[in-house]
Amino acid sequence: MSETPRIVVLPGDGIGPEIVAATTRVLDALGQFAYEERLMGGCSIDAHGTALTDEVLTACKAADAVLLGAVGGPKWDTTNPDAPRPEQGLLGLRKGMGLYANLRPVRPSPALVGASPLRQDRIAGTDLLVVRELTGGIYFGDSGRDGDVAHDTCEYSAAEVERIARTAFEAARRRGAGSDRKPRVTSVDKANVLETSRLWREVVTRVAPDYADVELDHLLVDNAAMQLVSRPAEFDVIVAENLFGDILSDEAAMLTGSLGMLPSASLGAAGDPGLFEPVHGSAPDIAGQGVANPLATFLSAALMLRHGLGRAADAERIEAAVDAVLARGLRTPDLAGDPVAPASDPGSPEETRVGTEEMTDAVLAELAA
Ligand code: IPM
Ligand code: MG
Repeated sequence: MSETPRIVVLPGDGIGPEIVAATTRVLDALGQFAYEERLMGGCSIDAHGTALTDEVLTACKAADAVLLGAVGGPKWDTTNPDAPRPEQGLLGLRKGMGLYANLRPVRPSPALVGASPLRQDRIAGTDLLVVRELTGGIYFGDSGRDGDVAHDTCEYSAAEVERIARTAFEAARRRGAGSDRKPRVTSVDKANVLETSRLWREVVTRVAPDYADVELDHLLVDNAAMQLVSRPAEFDVIVAENLFGDILSDEAAMLTGSLGMLPSASLGAAGDPGLFEPVHGSAPDIAGQGVANPLATFLSAALMLRHGLGRAADAERIEAAVDAVLARGLRTPDLAGDPVAPASDPGSPEETRVGTEEMTDAVLAELAA
C-alpha cells in the first residue's frame, strides 16, 4: 500500500455529500490521505446515464479503499425495469470489486441505550456483528418478467457459502480474543423451506470443526428476527445470506436507537480494496439542511482504517471520539428526543441538539484533545 492511502470517495446522493465531506475532515485530522472523488448512484445517472461507469469501477479497484456516502432518491425511483436505478451502482461495485463479505457491527453507544426502542434491561450488553453475504443469492440470480409474471432466482454455491462462513468464524474468533465469553456464530437460514438454505446449513456445519473454539448454532430467519428483539445481548456473530442479512441488519441497527449510527465494511479477497459505507440511506427528505447525522460515516471510516488500511489505533480514536461526543449529550435530530440516560444516572448531561457541522467539530475537538 502506498504511504499516503489512496481513497476513492463516492459521496453519492441525498445527504451523502454532506456526511462524506464531514468524514474527510475527520480523516484529515488523523493523517494524510489522497482522495479521488467520483460519481456513483443517481448523480452518475444524471451525468452519464448509468449509476456506475466502467471508469469509476476501475478507479475503485485500483484504490487502497473506497468510502461511500449513500445513493438513491425519489428522483430516480421507478418500476420501469429498463430505466437505470442508483442502487445498480452499489450492486455493480459489490460484484465488480468482489466484495462478498459485509460486516455490520452493532454496538449501542453507552450514551444511547436510552434511545433504543427496547427496554434497557433487554438492550444492555448488546454487542453483535452481522456478517452478510453480499455478492450472491437472490440479489444476483436470474430475474425477469414475462407479462404478468415476474421471477427472481436465489442461487448459492458451496464455495460461496464456505468463504462467508469462514469470514464469520474468523470474525468471531477475533472478537473472542481477550474476552471471557466463548465466541459464537449464529447461522441464519430458512432450511425448513429453501434448498439454498439446506446447502447453506450443510456447508456451515461442515466448516465449523475447523473452528472448534467457536460455538455454532443455527436459527431459522423468522425466529432470528424475533430473537433479535427479545434477547439481542445473547448474539455474537450472525452470518446470513444476502437478503436475510439485508433485513436482519436493519433490524439490528435499530437496536442502537438510530439507523444513523451503523457503519459497514464490505470486503473481498485479502489485499483487495474494501468499500466502507454507513448502513443508512440517502435521506433525501433532509438533504442540504445541514442536519444529517455523520456518525455512521465516521464509524465507517474507522472500519476503513481498521480493516482496509491496517490502522487499528486510528480506528479506535474515532470510535472513542464518537462515544465521547454522545456522552456529552450531543445529538443530531435523528437521535434527539429520547432520554439520554437512565434516571438512575443523575450525572448524565442534558441533550444538545446539533447539526452535521457542530457534530463534526465536536468529534474533531475530541481527536485534538
Ligand atoms: C443495504 C441497502 C442495499 C441492499 C440497497 C440500497 C440496494 O439496503 O446496503 O443494505 O439491499 O443491499
Ligand atoms: Mg439494507
